[in-house]
Amino acid sequence: MKVLVIGGGGREHAICWKLSQSPKVTELYCAPGNAGIARVAACVPLKATDVDGVVAWAKEHTMDFVVVAPDDPLALGMVDALEAAGIPAFGPRKNAAIIEASKAFSKDLMKKYGIPTAKYKTFTDLAAAEAYVEQQGAPIVVKADGLALGKGVTVAETVEEAKAALREMMAEGKFGVSGSTVVIEERMTGPEVTVLAFTDGTYLVCMPSSRDHKRAYDGDRGPNTGGMGAIAPVPGFTDELLQQCMGTIFLPTIAAMKAEGRPFQGVLYFGLMLTPDGPKVVEYNARFGDPETQAVLSLLDSDLLDIMLACRNGALHEADVRWKDAAACCLVLASGGYPVAYQSGYPISGLEEAGKSAVVFHAGTKRDEQDRIVTAGGRVLGVTATGDTLGAAIDSAYKAAKHISFTDMHFRTDIGQKSLTETEGSD
Ligand code: AMP
Ligand code: GLY
Repeated sequence: MKVLVIGGGGREHAICWKLSQSPKVTELYCAPGNAGIARVAACVPLKATDVDGVVAWAKEHTMDFVVVAPDDPLALGMVDALEAAGIPAFGPRKNAAIIEASKAFSKDLMKKYGIPTAKYKTFTDLAAAEAYVEQQGAPIVVKADGLALGKGVTVAETVEEAKAALREMMAEGKFGVSGSTVVIEERMTGPEVTVLAFTDGTYLVCMPSSRDHKRAYDGDRGPNTGGMGAIAPVPGFTDELLQQCMGTIFLPTIAAMKAEGRPFQGVLYFGLMLTPDGPKVVEYNARFGDPETQAVLSLLDSDLLDIMLACRNGALHEADVRWKDAAACCLVLASGGYPVAYQSGYPISGLEEAGKSAVVFHAGTKRDEQDRIVTAGGRVLGVTATGDTLGAAIDSAYKAAKHISFTDMHFRTDIGQKSLTETEGSD
């Protein structure tokens, strides 16, 4: 089969890496891809958000299947457009991708179907939002309704901080239209866990639990990033908790989307918080998480293409989905200054040596005019290792990363450390 993957980050590298191992994939393409993806797929110079361009290219080059990985093209309806052109695609349609694209939608859905989440109110008027914050007091959480590169959330410790976030979103247009509607919600506490699940709209198969590390610096300090590393599975996320979430969150969400006439096919990302009152939803995403995917797909033993086709064809119950009895750690190597301001174009050394003991997924890299692999983004690489235990996986990832260097390289030194000492239900 000829398969095209949309996107060009670490997540897409992990997807391409896994798809390239499928005997059924005869030709693999990625748009736009990156320097690492180019080793396993032919890169196509199209933007991930260029819906018309992607559909035209996929038609012209007779693609059999297209995997749409990032949130933006999903929210723009790329899957609908591909399917309308007769090209089978993996990912939710626009009317289901809204579960990520609008926090107001997802909160209303959870309320309507009794799915546990933080109490909230939605506002389009700044004065009313400010009055609500005054009345509720702090701590309180302010969220832009729409997509904001994972940066549209402020967990405010004071009323002033919450009001400043509201002003930035609603009056100063910090996130454009994504911030003209805001959700204000109660602050929850507890460890966070990500569960990614394959679904065909009716049936659901969970992947191993995982944990992102969103803050830029050690000890969960500094600004929020797209994610500085991930581990899988999460030691404290027991089978009992999984079963509880199945009953109260995962299956009810799939059923709710179906009942709303928005059946969700693809990967549904459950961002959970294990609160003293039980697991609650922090957020949904309509796609694989990044960097969680690099860790999680490293543990997949089955053929990813077969699973994706089964999701697309409503036959997930027949699919063979097996996982390695092991642990994985993905350590992100970022550009110094990320997520605020950083320079790109620095040559990267040591990739080959690191690749001997880990899989080095590329996030922001490209080849320059001198054919060198250089940095080309905030998150540059995701050094991903597996091991019999989480400790072994973390050690391997850090050892492999020692071989790699580029100017101003920044990484956290504590990926997975808290999870190592985690006991049930604690962080
Ligand atoms: P989100 O983009 O909705 O996942 O939010 C980003 C991060 O903000 C989450 O991973 C949490 O750490 C934090 N967060 C979001 N909502 C809440 C909440 N209601 N209570 C506490 N922390 C939250
Ligand atoms: N790791 C967070 C996300 O993919 O949104």
